[in-house]
Amino acid sequence: MSSKLLPAKVTTHVIMAMKQRGEKIAMLTAYDYSFAVLLDETGIEVILVGDSASNVMAGHRTTLPITLNEMIYHASSVVRGVKRALVVVDLPFGTYQGNSKEALNSAIRIMKESGADAVKLEGGSEVLESVDRILSAGIPVMGHLGLTPQSIHKFGTYVVRATTEQEAQKLMADARLLEKAGCFAIVLEKIPAQLGAAVARDVRIPIIGIGAGSEVDGQVLVLHDMLGMNTAFSPRFLRRYHNLSEEIKGSVVQYIKDVKSLDFPNEREQY
Ligand code: KIV
Repeated sequence: MSSKLLPAKVTTHVIMAMKQRGEKIAMLTAYDYSFAVLLDETGIEVILVGDSASNVMAGHRTTLPITLNEMIYHASSVVRGVKRALVVVDLPFGTYQGNSKEALNSAIRIMKESGADAVKLEGGSEVLESVDRILSAGIPVMGHLGLTPQSIHKFGTYVVRATTEQEAQKLMADARLLEKAGCFAIVLEKIPAQLGAAVARDVRIPIIGIGAGSEVDGQVLVLHDMLGMNTAFSPRFLRRYHNLSEEIKGSVVQYIKDVKSLDFPNEREQY
């Protein structure tokens, strides 16, 4: 769809109104200008500058090492490519847990230096003071519950979360807390579909799922995973829409052949 035909800038209010109308919300990650331009031209509602940049852009094993400065670099690049979508940026590990003043400073830096529209952070009751303080500065906050990759060392594994009654109750309570605090949406990652549906029915703010079933208010995937840039990672919730790793390698192999055989550049490709 041409961006000229699309409605004006997506705000957090647009996202919340979509839930009320029963309209599903589409969200994908992006970390650079070129992909941000392409995504925005499709009409996608939300672009997440996820701290998954730590994995897919920087090659770290977890999301923990990425810094606030690095997130701001990725976020500014994305913002420069976006005219319409809502741009949400992850607060990286260590910039908001346990110190609400630091949380506020981190969120302000992201908003001021990148020009993004909102921040996202992981956790419920444990980070409520930080959520409150960021919201009090007028910065929209998206929550993230279920599998929270920044806590991987606490859990030791990426298996499905909230499978016991006690964990499910804690997740529901956290979702209610985040809604009451004023978050505009919550990501639910890798939890049973029934629980995802129950949370989406229970709260009025949009629930965006990644491995949280179909009865939530929207879906998010990591762009590089859904495009097939990375074939090693294949959780059940991932649908691959393309096989970009093969296409890219095929093009590069062809280029190498053309260079070595003197096929490239030909007469029309030189001055
Ligand atoms: O960092 C990220 O990409 C995320 C999504 C998986 C929701 O938080």
